[in-house]
Amino acid sequence: MIDIQHVSKTFITGKNKVEALKDVSLKVNKGEIFGVIGYSGAGKSTLIRCVNLLEHPTSGKVLVDGTDILKLNRAGLRKLRRKIGMIFQGYNLLETANVYDNVAIPLKLEGVPKKEIKARADKYLRIVGLTDRSKAYPSQLSGGQKQRVAIARALAHEPEVLLSDEATSALDPTTTDSILELLLKVNRELGITIFLITHELNVIQRICDRVAVMEQGRIVEAGTVVDVFTQPKKQLTRQFVRNESNFKIPDEIYKDLLKTGELVSLTFLGESAKDPALATLARKFEVLPSIIAGGIDQLKDQSIGNLLVHLKGETGQIHDAVAYLKAQNIIVEKVTG
Ligand SMILES: Nc1ncnc2c1ncn2[C@@H]1O[C@H](COP(=O)(O)OP(=O)(O)OP(=O)(O)O)[C@@H](O)[C@H]1O
Ligand SMILES: [Mg+2]
Repeated sequence: MIDIQHVSKTFITGKNKVEALKDVSLKVNKGEIFGVIGYSGAGKSTLIRCVNLLEHPTSGKVLVDGTDILKLNRAGLRKLRRKIGMIFQGYNLLETANVYDNVAIPLKLEGVPKKEIKARADKYLRIVGLTDRSKAYPSQLSGGQKQRVAIARALAHEPEVLLSDEATSALDPTTTDSILELLLKVNRELGITIFLITHELNVIQRICDRVAVMEQGRIVEAGTVVDVFTQPKKQLTRQFVRNESNFKIPDEIYKDLLKTGELVSLTFLGESAKDPALATLARKFEVLPSIIAGGIDQLKDQSIGNLLVHLKGETGQIHDAVAYLKAQNIIVEKVTG
C-alpha cells in the first residue's frame, strides 16, 4: 500500500543543515495499522508528511498503491490526497464552523454533490459518535470530541489510508483509549489502512500490527509489535519497552534479592501462559521461585504476561531451571539491576 524506499530528507535553512531522514525504507501493507515510534526530533512527522507530499523527499522513492507519487502531476496529486486522509495532534478544525460544517465544507470544496455531502457527513459523524453534537462549535467540545470531528472529516473523503501524526498526544489516558478504540474500529470495519506516528508506547501496543522505531532520522528496529515488545534488540527500543523496570522495584530491594539468588524476567505469550511452569520448576529442580512482581500488557490481538521472579538455589540448578523455562516457550531474561 505504502512503499517508502531509501528516503532521505535534508532541510537547509541558511547555514544550517538538518538531515531529518536518512535512507528510510519501510512498507505499510493494505489493511494493517503500522506505527512509527521515536522521541521528539527523530524525524517522524517529516516521514509521514512524505507520504502525502506535504514534504518532498530529497532523495528516494515513495510508492502508494504502486504509483510513484513523486512523478505525479497536479491532477494526480489531488487524486492521491483524496486517497489519503490525515489527522493531527492539533485537530486543525475551523473554529467558526460547527461540527457538521467542519465535515461538510471540505466535501463541498471538493465538488461532492449536495445530497452525497449530507449522507457522508451524517454517516461519519455517526461512526465517530457525534451525531448529537453536530450543531456544536469546536470551542464547545472537549479535546477528544475535537479529534473525533477531525477523524470524521478525514473519513468523509472515503480515503484508503489514514495518516495520524500524534493524534492522541494532547489527550488524557482515558480519552486516548477511546480514540484508539475508534481508530481500531475504522481499521476493522471500514478496512482503512492506518499509518501513524507517536512517541507513546501505549499507542503502538494497543492498536498496531507492526512497528518501526526511529532515532535521529533512521529506522533502528522494525517488526511485528509482539516481536519488538517481547524481544527488543536495540537499546532505544528497550528504553521504550523496558520490561522488567516497568515494575519499579526500589534499588535496595533489587540489591537484596540479587544477594540471595538470581532475578529473571519472564515473558509469557499465548500458549506458554497456560502451563504452571513455576510450580513445575519448584518440583523438578532444587530451585525456589518467588514472584516479585507481575503484569499483563494487552496488545492488539493478544496479551503478554510478565513476571519478575527470584530464583533461589545452586547455580547449576538455576541454570537447568532457566533452560527448562526457555523450553516451555517462555522468554527468559536475566535481570542484573
Ligand atoms: N521545515 C523544516 N525546516 C527545517 N528543519 C526542519 C523542518 N521540519 C523539521 N525539521 C527538523 O527535522 C528534524 C525532524 O523533525 P520532525 O518534526 O520530523 O521530528 P518528530 O520526530 O516529528 O518530532 P516531534 O515528536 O517533536 O514531533 C528536527 O531536527 C527538526 O528540527
Ligand atoms: Mg512530529
